[in-house]
Amino acid sequence: MIGIILYFLVILAELIFAIGFSALTISFIYSSLKGSPYVPTRQKEVDIILKTANLKSKQIFLELGCGDGRVCRRAASLYGVKTIGVDVNPLLIRYARFLAKIKSVNNTDFRTQNIFDTDLSKVDVVYLFLMPKLIELIVPKLEKEIKKKALVISHGFKIVEWQNRLVKKIDHRPFPTYYYRKVDK
Ligand SMILES: C[S@@+](CC[C@H](N)C(=O)[O-])C[C@H]1O[C@@H](n2cnc3c(N)ncnc32)[C@H](O)[C@@H]1O
Repeated sequence: MIGIILYFLVILAELIFAIGFSALTISFIYSSLKGSPYVPTRQKEVDIILKTANLKSKQIFLELGCGDGRVCRRAASLYGVKTIGVDVNPLLIRYARFLAKIKSVNNTDFRTQNIFDTDLSKVDVVYLFLMPKLIELIVPKLEKEIKKKALVISHGFKIVEWQNRLVKKIDHRPFPTYYYRKVDK
């Protein structure tokens, strides 16, 4: 009898694993189809990037395509900024919320949302780590909506259209980080 129960428990565990793994794989494919695969910013680079950004506690920090929310969580806990992370992948958003909860990080708001539907008008700092094509498509929205003095941090890839707005660059390998100000005067 115990043998039969064990047998079914093993099958159940394998089923749960297979379903979870498939859901994760599908969600990663979905992220890629929406414009950018899920590749997290390396933890040790997150700290350098945030320190260089010189964040102030009253600022609003928005991450476009936040993945597991690591950058938002770190910005909120180290600098006290209000952070908003949006990602098209609902599994990653659930995971980001879960991590914020178990690590007791307040000041984070994670939303399942396409970056093209995100309100950018109130943010002081925008962080993104997206594929060049997606960056190219989001630039007109950034141009139109963000505050004049907003800081835009692009990890991995430069914003080609904003070459003359580059204020700083960190040369990490393999992914550098670029800092832009919409208007510097
Ligand atoms: C390279 S990962 C970066 C993750 C996170 N920003 C980090 O640095 O750890 C890009 C993220 O953008 C998300 N993404 C791709 N296309 C998107 C879209 N159109 N709207 C919102 N998020 C998107 C993906 O799901 C993925 O999590």
